[in-house]
Formats: sequence, structure tokens, C-alpha cells
Amino acid sequence: MRFFDSTTPETTTVGVVDVARWEQFGLGATMPFQAMWYTVPPASCSPRDCHPELELSIVLAGRAEVQAADAPPAIVEQGSAFLLESDEAHIVHNRSADTDLVIFSAYWMPVQSLAASAVSASASAVAVDV
Ligand code: NI
Repeated sequence: MRFFDSTTPETTTVGVVDVARWEQFGLGATMPFQAMWYTVPPASCSPRDCHPELELSIVLAGRAEVQAADAPPAIVEQGSAFLLESDEAHIVHNRSADTDLVIFSAYWMPVQSLAASAVSASASAVAVDV
């Protein structure tokens, strides 16, 4: 087991957002994804982001208002999560006046389309069985 302390990592600043990338833990290729914690200060938002990686985000503290692509903004409460698709532009707002928004994100390049269709086929089979 490895322990990752969220209170002491090295961080960089992206706009007003404080980002702690997991590359600093030296995991190399042991995980099939990258990860980070990031903090959006009160009454601010992340810079607009858009990348080929899918991004799964879990709200650890505060409440996120996620503006993604052309969809209406979505409120994501503490403990809930949101998944951004490949190349889905996104901005994460913290509308609170006094509480940090803290998020854990894992992100990875899309799996090969052949593998994706295999997963989708097995998911359909499960659905039929149920
Ligand atoms: Ni992103």
C-alpha cells in the first residue's frame, strides 16, 4: 500500500487554481492513468480546459458548478463525481464566497475503439441477463 498525503504535495498554479499532479509521486507507468488534486478558490473558476484525455473528477470539498461543452451547467455536490469526455471543453466554477472547492481527478487517453466496443458488447450482454 502506498499513501498519498493531500496536505503536503508540491503544487503549481494554473490561473487561480492550485494543482497537485501525481507525477511527483514517481508512479511512472504503474497506473494506466494520471491523477491530480486541484483547488478552486472561492468566487473563482478554472481556466477553460480541453484535452483528448477523459477526466473523472470527484468533489472532495465544496460544490462544483461544471460548465461542459454546450450542456447547461451542472451542480456537483461533495462526494459526487463527473466524467468529461475526450475533447469536451470544461470550466469548473466555485460559486461559494468562502469555501475552497477541492477536486480529485484521474485522466487517461481514450481506450482503443476495438476495446471500447468489446466493453460495450459485454455491458449489453449483462443488461440483457438482468
Ligand atoms: Ni481538464
